[in-house]
Amino acid sequence: MMIRNAKEDIKKILYTREDIHKRVCEVGKILTEEYKDKDPVMVCILKGSAYFYIDLCREMDCHLKNDFMSVSSYGNDAKSSGIVKIIKDLDSDINGKDVVIVEDIIDTGRTINYLMNMLSSRHPNSIKVVTLLNKLGVRDAKIKADYKGFDIDNVFVVGYGLDYAGFYRNLPYIGELKEECYKN
Ligand code: IMP
Ligand code: MG
Repeated sequence: MMIRNAKEDIKKILYTREDIHKRVCEVGKILTEEYKDKDPVMVCILKGSAYFYIDLCREMDCHLKNDFMSVSSYGNDAKSSGIVKIIKDLDSDINGKDVVIVEDIIDTGRTINYLMNMLSSRHPNSIKVVTLLNKLGVRDAKIKADYKGFDIDNVFVVGYGLDYAGFYRNLPYIGELKEECYKN
């Protein structure tokens, strides 16, 4: 696939840079209130949540620790298989800690369901999920984000960390990808 100009592949911008910034500030305030005495471990799920994660942590006015986990789900890129491969695990022990998993998007819920089960088995004091986007579609795992940026319809989106085949993460907005770019 040859991409000359990523912007040309966007059908519609759903959230602008300004919309995202405003919402990230709001979620950051909520998390500050919730976690100000807890020194949470903020878990970034690479690579999709990297842009959101950094911005969100900067809006949290409390002590926190950063840790990173890199996962990839098997299958093609536009649909989750639910089988998650851990490429890089957390550096720290989360036993007894208050953990916040930061995700880019929850679609079927399979990925986050897998991660919740895996991290819960390490006996954290608490574990919650914040997702930038909550896709209103087919949710087949009984999972709900504790905090979310935006609800979106069941369309394929890219930008602000979200990718298709590794591209488009650096777009400063969240946009709907033209169907011809991911269906062939
Ligand atoms: P789930 O396991 O179906 O909830 O899917 C979660 C993962 O699928 C996300 O972390 C993304 O990597 C990917 N994904 C689902 N929907 C989209 C989308 O619209 N754009 C980009 N990636 C998506
Ligand atoms: Mg992805």
